[in-house]
Amino acid sequence: MRPRSLTPVDRVLADAQRALETVFARPASQRPNPSLEAADLTLEEHDRRHAAGLMRINHVGEVCAQALYCGQAAVARDVRTREHLLAAAQEETDHLAWCEQRLRELDSRPSLLNPVWYAGSYAIGALAGLRGDGWNLGFVVETERQVEAHIDEHLQSLPPADLRSRAILGVMKADEARHADQAEHAGARMLPPPIPSVMALASRIMKTVAYRV
Ligand SMILES: [Fe+2]
Ligand SMILES: [Fe+2]
Repeated sequence: MRPRSLTPVDRVLADAQRALETVFARPASQRPNPSLEAADLTLEEHDRRHAAGLMRINHVGEVCAQALYCGQAAVARDVRTREHLLAAAQEETDHLAWCEQRLRELDSRPSLLNPVWYAGSYAIGALAGLRGDGWNLGFVVETERQVEAHIDEHLQSLPPADLRSRAILGVMKADEARHADQAEHAGARMLPPPIPSVMALASRIMKTVAYRV
């Protein structure tokens, strides 16, 4: 967790380092990858490609979550809110690492547009954060609920034989639900319309593009 005595310049540098690590480095997870418990069945070629497209979307979702939370933390007024956001981002690192590992197993790669997804999400997070800390947490709740919903869609759509991706998404879904509950208890405000619909539209665009690129 980031110490409280960092200067604004330190914070900018720490954020830049985190962005570079998220987009270009291979993140390390703190918990073991849940897919290691599942059988590694051979997939038909079209199933492999479909699973890779879905796991690329999930990986981009985690890149965006990192960026949103860091953007929000950068402008959070209350130290506890900032710590809550940075702790959430830290937990998301496991998801990022697991999705990246599964993409490699599927002979695929993360989205080439990850720097763009990161920059856009960081800006959205910072803008949301400037509205105040209740909004910040409301934004976390909405993000987590939307991610949980798209994980559900992916669990329906993944090839039945892709037990490894399913194992990862099962744990991610439970984590995202917990993240939303924690933010709700920490004092999240309900986001007014049309913000949730705009967020859903942005995530639909991301999913369509990230499935391919
Ligand atoms: Fe996540
Ligand atoms: Fe989450």
